[in-house]
Amino acid sequence: MLHDQLLRDPNTYEELKLEGTGAVNPANGRQYPWKHGYLAFMEEADAAGSNRKYLELYNRIARFYRLSNKLYFALKFGGERSYREQFLSALELRGGQRVLETSVGSGDNFPYLNMKAENAQSELYGLDISSGMLKQAVRNLRRWKLEAHLFQGTAERLPFQDNSFDCVYHVGGINCFSDPHAAVLEMIRVAKPGTRLMIADETQKLVKGTYGKVPVVKGYFAEGADMPEMLGLIPPEMLEVEYKEVCKGLMYCITFRKP
Ligand SMILES: C[S@@+](CC[C@H](N)C(=O)[O-])C[C@H]1O[C@@H](n2cnc3c(N)ncnc32)[C@H](O)[C@@H]1O
Repeated sequence: MLHDQLLRDPNTYEELKLEGTGAVNPANGRQYPWKHGYLAFMEEADAAGSNRKYLELYNRIARFYRLSNKLYFALKFGGERSYREQFLSALELRGGQRVLETSVGSGDNFPYLNMKAENAQSELYGLDISSGMLKQAVRNLRRWKLEAHLFQGTAERLPFQDNSFDCVYHVGGINCFSDPHAAVLEMIRVAKPGTRLMIADETQKLVKGTYGKVPVVKGYFAEGADMPEMLGLIPPEMLEVEYKEVCKGLMYCITFRKP
């Protein structure tokens, strides 16, 4: 069950109250409605810069995303599980945790968390900028008989209270965010002290080598779009910072602990 103590207005970080139609900020009356099974904290028309560009891309490809990925993972890694477990195994998961994935997409990491029986009681939360991907997530979760709370918003302004999650991770979008540094700081803000965080995304090898050849997608990654130096965005006070390349060097996986 979603509790309003967990939620914050992403524009002001003020408290929100949940009502039948959505969440409302009592301080200024602003409403955030339920749409198609997720709570919407943004209007897509307001997205700007790189976020707008990739929001449009993911809305276009949402219906094919899962199937084409499945095929790719089967050919390249012998299946989706062996691909995803290479970075998801870095998470410190235990039963009864509150788990947040930023840029949850169509929810495809969630089954691989819950396969472990000890995680069965965890509460899952996912946020994404794309309505197309979130609609797929709603449909997939129903099919997989999994429960998760879904939100539309930007990873750079999370609609959650500080120090709220036992596990916070991100897979696959941050290289192209308008403000990847803000997204890292937001993940840290909402994680409880002592939490191990994980960020995984494509290396240059994947962006230049593969995406540059895929129709529909290639225009978005021409010349290997500018990629941020992610390790440099992790604040120096974070503990146990580790960088490794996984998935045949096509993905990087950064882990660190919030003090
Ligand atoms: C490659 S998909 C990854 C989805 C999922 N994490 C996975 O592993 O399958 C990247 C996702 O990032 C989302 N995204 C892009 N920019 C975003 C932003 N600024 N805030 C939140 N999500 C964003 C896209 O809509 C898309 O669903």
